[in-house]
Amino acid sequence: MSEHRILVTEPIPETVIDFLSTLGRVDVGVKGEFNNEDHLADVLPKYDALLCMLSTPVTEKVLTNASKLKIVANFAVGYNNIDVAAADHLKIKVANTPDVLTEACGDFALALLMATTRRFNEAEKYLREGHFKSWEPMGFLGMELREKTLGIVGMGRIGQAFAHRARAFGMKIAYHNRNRISPEIEHELGADFFDDLKELVSKSDVLSLNCPLTDETHHLIDEETLDLMQEHAILINISRGPVVDEAALAKALHSKKIAGAGLDVYEFEPKVHPDLLTAPNCTLLPHIASATHETREAIGMLAATAIKQVLQGVADKNITNLVTSKS
Ligand code: GLV
Repeated sequence: MSEHRILVTEPIPETVIDFLSTLGRVDVGVKGEFNNEDHLADVLPKYDALLCMLSTPVTEKVLTNASKLKIVANFAVGYNNIDVAAADHLKIKVANTPDVLTEACGDFALALLMATTRRFNEAEKYLREGHFKSWEPMGFLGMELREKTLGIVGMGRIGQAFAHRARAFGMKIAYHNRNRISPEIEHELGADFFDDLKELVSKSDVLSLNCPLTDETHHLIDEETLDLMQEHAILINISRGPVVDEAALAKALHSKKIAGAGLDVYEFEPKVHPDLLTAPNCTLLPHIASATHETREAIGMLAATAIKQVLQGVADKNITNLVTSKS
């Protein structure tokens, strides 16, 4: 039997590459190389397995050309970059990396919340630019967390991890989700369910987006929703950029309709709307919520393990992180 060939689209932790090398020949792309659909479609027919990033466009066109391909393992929990229906149709498996990044993302959401409510980036810029001449009693006043309502849109694993942390800071938890979570977890988090998103938006002091990007969640936060937010409220987004209409958000920030935003993801990533770059109190980070040494290695190993299982013919039902059908 010929040696398996595995394409990894970007450099990832060496331990993961070593593990994959026990399965076959591994080629690793350079940063950003396979963010191009045509290039990926050209090279993929040589490979049995693809380990790719959330920036890799795994479209129907890419998959249709790849006649040897058995599995696409995304180095991410979100997989909106992959045409899963086309993969299923072509009998190519798709895997993602749930669970292993939950805690890192929970930590990060809280950090982004605090950086934004306490205006870290504005204050740091002020200092770096040499304006800090004396302690100011009215300088950079922000919002305290105790007794404030954190409204979470998308109460999955990461939403819950964020809620746990926010509770420790005395925040009240409210949420909107497709399905209500179990009464036990609601009780543990002290979380109030809002069936009506608009009501949640208008009651939240901090509104956090933790839902996947789907047709239903695209531009879930638009001008109309932003209008419902309170003037002192802030928006946190660590899910996917297109959940927010970025132009409308930039407008709301510039007109002080809302007090701030903490963003890790962008509508046209890696491009950032120019009016966000100049918006007051907007913490802007380059999609790093899961970026810890521990988590990025765990993500890689989980993706690589799915590749091993598929290449070695393990029954689909025994592969925990497949997102294509398991039949
Ligand atoms: C990161 O955004 C992920 O989906 O894992």
